[in-house]
Amino acid sequence: MPRFAASLTSLRSSEIRDLMKLATRPGIISFAGGMPDNNLFPVDEVKEIINTLTTEQQQTAFQYGPTPGLPSLLESLGEFLAGKGLPLDTNRLMITTGSQQAIALLARAFIDPGDRVLVENPCFIGAISAFKSNQAELTGIDLDTEGIRIDQLEREARRPDKAKFLYLTPYFHNPGGLLYSAARKQQVTSTLTGTDIVLIEDDAYGNLYFYDDDKPRLTPIKAADPDGVDICYTGSFSKILGPGLRLGWLLLPDDIYQRCELIKQSIDACSPSFTQVIADQFIRRGLLEPYIERVRHEYRRRAETMSDMLQQTLPPDVQWNRPRGGFYIWLTLPDHIDASAVLKRSIDQGAVFVIGKTFDPKGKQHNTLRLSYCNTNEEQIKTGITIIANAIKQGNVLS
Ligand SMILES: Cc1ncc(COP(=O)(O)O)c(C=O)c1O
Repeated sequence: MPRFAASLTSLRSSEIRDLMKLATRPGIISFAGGMPDNNLFPVDEVKEIINTLTTEQQQTAFQYGPTPGLPSLLESLGEFLAGKGLPLDTNRLMITTGSQQAIALLARAFIDPGDRVLVENPCFIGAISAFKSNQAELTGIDLDTEGIRIDQLEREARRPDKAKFLYLTPYFHNPGGLLYSAARKQQVTSTLTGTDIVLIEDDAYGNLYFYDDDKPRLTPIKAADPDGVDICYTGSFSKILGPGLRLGWLLLPDDIYQRCELIKQSIDACSPSFTQVIADQFIRRGLLEPYIERVRHEYRRRAETMSDMLQQTLPPDVQWNRPRGGFYIWLTLPDHIDASAVLKRSIDQGAVFVIGKTFDPKGKQHNTLRLSYCNTNEEQIKTGITIIANAIKQGNVLS
């Protein structure tokens, strides 16, 4: 009998992955995944880039690269990030293999078995898995309409068995769909200052805003780089170019960067050079901003279609957010309705989503669910939301 590591016992199979299998049934309308629409990928632009690489660029693409990333991409990405006001000169930038790896590196850097970490409830499932696989004790802090609840955060920050870090997704939260207010971000910083609790700021969706009015709210907390709190900023090419590139990044204070570089060396030595060359050229040829503009517009159309449908079809006692960016709408059903029962009915009728329990660090929530509008056209949204709204109206009755 192979003797597996004890740390594996804290990992449960991702319900998202299990549901994805159902989501591939022919004809089913899937609001389950958080992946961009295949039809929106910049395939022609990338073909053009590949066909016009110099010999030196081609060779770089096939070769191993430095652990922290190809210098040319670090430079071009650095300029892109400087546009968000991020402090590139006083921190260090590292390319990672998706931002999932960025989160996993930080988990390895900080967590000893049994350490407490603070997360939002609900929380991105990939972060929950990364923290649990390092045997962390997760404490979920609730969200309200402006962000994480400060009263709960203050209580946690005062505890003697202090958490190692707080992980936040303030920009078009996955799964909550929420955009933090500037005031709430400021309160997070003041609460953490002087506590030695590191802040991990995950900005996977910030570029996918729908309304220009929101731009001031998209300035990362890291941009101010306040004294007295270490902020580790993560981002990704996945939602603004393609997840198949497997490229993300970390912007870190030097001492944390050094640890993450060592850990990355032991994991994959470097992120794929091939896709780093493509991403670098995508930025340098001025293709990134127009591409983001295009997908942002498309996702906004889909979000508005879904919101209008929900408005028309849902019973008034279901709470949900009208998204201002990103991929997700979060629904809270009346307490007596079980989201799993609604899911079963919906799948029977041809539509799938993810139940909220998946994103609860303790796996308890029973009456919430996440809808993604990123991977369905308007027709599918209209049909699928009608199915889900009917399933909600039928409550817990199973066919
Ligand atoms: C909030 C958040 N962070 C990080 C990731 C990881 O993305 P990737 O590893 O593709 O960069 C995702 C993916 O869905 C996400 O939703």
